[in-house]
Amino acid sequence: PHFPGYTSGLVKSEPGKFVMNPLYGFHAEKLYRMQPRRDDVWLLGFPKCGTTWTSELIWLLMNNCDTARASATHLIFRTPCIELPFLTSETELSPQMMNMLNAIEKMQSPRVLKSHLPFYLLHPDLLDTSKVVYIARNPKDAIVSFYHHTKLVKRHNFQGTLEEFAEYFMEDEILCSPFFPHVLDAWSKRHHPHLHFMFFEDLKKDLRGEIEKVADFLGKSPSDEQLAKITNHLRFDNLKHNDSVNNELGKRTGFMNKDGNFMRKGKTGDWKNHFGPDLNSKIDKWIERNLRGSDLTFITKL
Ligand code: A3P
Repeated sequence: PHFPGYTSGLVKSEPGKFVMNPLYGFHAEKLYRMQPRRDDVWLLGFPKCGTTWTSELIWLLMNNCDTARASATHLIFRTPCIELPFLTSETELSPQMMNMLNAIEKMQSPRVLKSHLPFYLLHPDLLDTSKVVYIARNPKDAIVSFYHHTKLVKRHNFQGTLEEFAEYFMEDEILCSPFFPHVLDAWSKRHHPHLHFMFFEDLKKDLRGEIEKVADFLGKSPSDEQLAKITNHLRFDNLKHNDSVNNELGKRTGFMNKDGNFMRKGKTGDWKNHFGPDLNSKIDKWIERNLRGSDLTFITKL
């Protein structure tokens, strides 16, 4: 009842299940078969974990750090999200979205593509073919960020409280759930030479250092001057005012409510302003349960 927009698509996740808009189900195979190319770079990550930020970072490194060109075209056309067409409609693809999907197939190499889908719903040869960057974020801040996102994007139409949203999140009922298998699967592949696994919190701590690591991974050698330029370009306060990235476009197209911002706070630890002690302890237990037996750890405050 809290998600009128997604009612029919919300199913409690079971092993191997994935929560997505029902329209996706009719096209899942098309995305699964989307052929990766040798010179593609794919950015993967659970929603609200810094995927927009990282897409812009990768695009810049792949395009000679050309910030002027980056600012001239909206990010969704430069690093298209392959499942976006299925998130914009319940029932059928608009001609515009169908075109977007065809455009991805025809895009000039080297492509930078983005997806929130987990590895197992993407082409099985993806990692052996293309380079993949995976961005992870601590789930506490991801919950808070996603909660605000569901208030911002009209289609979500979430009417509940943050506490209720957090419960949905932990029950794997939120779009792109379940969270932990998504992250843990990528984590288990992190030593693959084609995968660069990175954390939102590290980007916050040392943006330039993390950009350099991605550049190394992509085989790029930006000059000091270029690095300084894109580091500055990628800072929260600058991206927030960059119309090609900040998704203010969504307000003009009616996709988003006027209140709130896609570039919201950009902080680590905002969960402390949102969770009471009971909810926090419940989330701690949920995290602990899901990370048991894994060496993955999250930084929840900086
Ligand atoms: P908050 O809601 O916590 O502010 P995604 O792009 O995967 O949807 O992730 C969105 C989150 O990344 C939002 O988090 C957004 O503010 C944050 N973000 C985007 N660009 C950022 C930047 N340059 N620095 C810090 N956070 C950034």
